[in-house]
Amino acid sequence: MKIMHVDASAKRERSNSRALSRFFLEQLREQHADVEIDYLDVTVDTPPHVTEAFAIATYTAAADRTPAMKATLASSDALCARVLAADALVLAMPMYNWSMPSVFKAFIDSITRTNVTYLLNADGSIVGQLGRQKVLFITSRGADLRPGSSYEAMDALTPALKAAFGFLGANHPTFVDAQPLQFADQEARTEALARARNELSAVAVQWAKSAAAGVSGKDTTATASGVAA
Ligand SMILES: Cc1cc2nc3c(=O)[nH]c(=O)nc-3n(C[C@H](O)[C@H](O)[C@H](O)COP(=O)(O)O)c2cc1C
Repeated sequence: MKIMHVDASAKRERSNSRALSRFFLEQLREQHADVEIDYLDVTVDTPPHVTEAFAIATYTAAADRTPAMKATLASSDALCARVLAADALVLAMPMYNWSMPSVFKAFIDSITRTNVTYLLNADGSIVGQLGRQKVLFITSRGADLRPGSSYEAMDALTPALKAAFGFLGANHPTFVDAQPLQFADQEARTEALARARNELSAVAVQWAKSAAAGVSGKDTTATASGVAA
């Protein structure tokens, strides 16, 4: 199974989301020997932010692009190719100000490309090209945003990720959200990390089983998620 693993925390050794994504891949390796990783740290290799040149080039039909437009799109083309080549995406990030880190948003802006990662039909309908990939989001949050908590309504991260990847055809992502990791006492933080690790272990078992059976992301049901997919 070829996995594209993306980390997006500004923190390094102290990062919870990085530790959890590493933990997940270790669990998966224990279950499934054939794991090949394509790693991207978007805090180091940050995809370029959208510029005017990009905005024009991306919506110019491929056949009409000038060499300069092609050059503008080259890094996005390469990133799209990496995403499309993966069988699964493991995308780990902290919540920053109720949504995603800006470096991860830059990643989304780079991989959302007409007639590359989604097809645009003449009638305006869209066909996302990531229906084959399993997608696991690992998020870490300082507050507790689980259903019923006082911060529940502040979660702008989960819907944004679902919308962006659903548009690309990844309609059944799994979410493992570690929370609360900051605005809570030590016991609640420890429990939150343990809960996330348990959920990740269950997802690893599930992925290994479906990989052995040759099942794609489209057919995988997320059951271990802290947030319903
Ligand atoms: C700049 C910044 C903004 C943050 N904003 C939020 C927030 O809006 N909601 C929240 O629950 N936690 C917020 N946090 C807390 C982090 O999400 C939390 O500490 C998380 O565990 C960090 O993950 P990491 O250890 O992988 O970096 C914020 C942290 C930072 C540094």
